[in-house]
Amino acid sequence: MTVARSPAKVIVTGEHFVVHGQPALAAAVNLYSTVVVESGSPGIIEISSSELGIDARFQTEALEKNPEGSERSILEPLLLVVERTLERSGSKGLGLRLQVKSQIPVGVGLGSSASTAVSTAAAVAHFLGLQLDRRQICELASVQEQFIHKKPSGIDALITTYGGVVLFKIGLSPVHLQPTDEVRIIIGNTGAARSTGDLVSKVSHRVQLGDRDLTRISDAAGQLTLQAVNAYKKKDFLQLGRLMNENHELLRQIGVSTPQLDRLVEVARDAGALGAKLTGAGGGGCMIALSRPEHDKRISKAIDAAGGRSYIVAMDRLGVKID
Ligand code: PMV
Repeated sequence: MTVARSPAKVIVTGEHFVVHGQPALAAAVNLYSTVVVESGSPGIIEISSSELGIDARFQTEALEKNPEGSERSILEPLLLVVERTLERSGSKGLGLRLQVKSQIPVGVGLGSSASTAVSTAAAVAHFLGLQLDRRQICELASVQEQFIHKKPSGIDALITTYGGVVLFKIGLSPVHLQPTDEVRIIIGNTGAARSTGDLVSKVSHRVQLGDRDLTRISDAAGQLTLQAVNAYKKKDFLQLGRLMNENHELLRQIGVSTPQLDRLVEVARDAGALGAKLTGAGGGGCMIALSRPEHDKRISKAIDAAGGRSYIVAMDRLGVKID
């Protein structure tokens, strides 16, 4: 039996624009997905999760029990990761039982699908005796991101694989920054599910049409991320917070915020956050607030009182890990 776990993530600055070549800053946080792998009946892959409400058996690439809806959308991409890892080790046709556990809310911008895929790739590879480095695990997990999100930047799989804090830009080596305990991140979940793929396509469509406003906003967001990295390195968290506020405004301008996200952002700022913004694809999902440790509970209460579900999180330093 092998157990692997990997963290959730938040995008601190630069989501959406990162898909179009701009840099983005992301942090891994201490909510985890865990995958347990054991051997199963030959040719059968069983995947179950009581928290996610999924339980299905797949037989040599054909669904034996055909799950529908969200169950199907969670399982099919995961199966792809399992099959790719089996192929890689020359063990196609081997039976496996996977148990997925997760503390990460699904479909709300916290990298739940990427984290589950990374834990799956790592657990299956380790169970099969495959020696993979982080880059290879990330590559295997990305199969599912491509399946779900159509055109992902790759930032989710990368940050959940490596953990810590990362400056990411498509085509360049990621820059790893030192995680910190000097500030807290408070996540506020609106509870409104949405599709990252659809939101990314909506923005991409405007880019393809040559929308000048979008190009201008995208360039501004790229500059903003570089300033955010400098502020983070200098531990100028006041400035980092200001830049997060500005980033939220840019995301509002491209139409991916919602009244409920704006509301949670506003109450977090009023409660003493250094900065607050939506995180991930928007359209619902989550926002984040940056806070001094002494204000975290006040901000979390304000988010809850405004109808959100808050989580005070710490940065994860380890990324994917075999337990
Ligand atoms: O799936 P989410 O909501 O965490 O969004 C990921 C971030 C995007 O920039 C919107 C998409 C991407 O692939 O980078």
